[in-house]
Amino acid sequence: MKTTEKKEKDTSKKAAAKKGTIKAKSSAASGLNDLFEDSLKDIYWAEKALTKAIPKMVKNATSEELIDSLNSHLTETEEQVKRLEKVFEIIGKKATAKKCDAMAGLIEEGKSIMEETELGVVRDAGIIAASQKIEHYEIATYGTLRQFAETLGFAEAATLLEQTLDEEKGADLKLTEVAVSAVNIEAAEAE
Ligand SMILES: [Fe+2]
Ligand SMILES: [Fe+2]
Repeated sequence: MKTTEKKEKDTSKKAAAKKGTIKAKSSAASGLNDLFEDSLKDIYWAEKALTKAIPKMVKNATSEELIDSLNSHLTETEEQVKRLEKVFEIIGKKATAKKCDAMAGLIEEGKSIMEETELGVVRDAGIIAASQKIEHYEIATYGTLRQFAETLGFAEAATLLEQTLDEEKGADLKLTEVAVSAVNIEAAEAE
């Protein structure tokens, strides 16, 4: 055995035994296909959860611009759920939702921000902050999913995922606009 070969073998053995390595569940993804499907289930759960969480934010928002942007993103989100169902269809899998801990946490954080602020501009600023964290999480997720779809040769699915990615980016920009144009300035004055 060549020295380099031996070295490689030793390193892989070491990697397997490395302390802190998490043991995979029996259902663990073994290929990119599985990982893609698992991630789709996560975001499918997340989008569905958002169709219930966004209306609660709307009820707590006071700025007209914020209410409008949340409502229009709610409509987009409902479409995104259907779009994901199409993606599942394309890959020949049943649309299934699996609890996404990250999104559950972000929604929970949004709830606490609302509890910790008085109704009005300050709560509006908090809702924007929480929503932007959600959008950024979605942007990261759809960026990855689109890439997975491309790598796996699901061109049509990649196009659909990119469409949603663009909507998430648009929603994030709109929230920044609302924050910059009115809400944050008023919130800063509302001491
Ligand atoms: Fe979304
Ligand atoms: Fe979104």
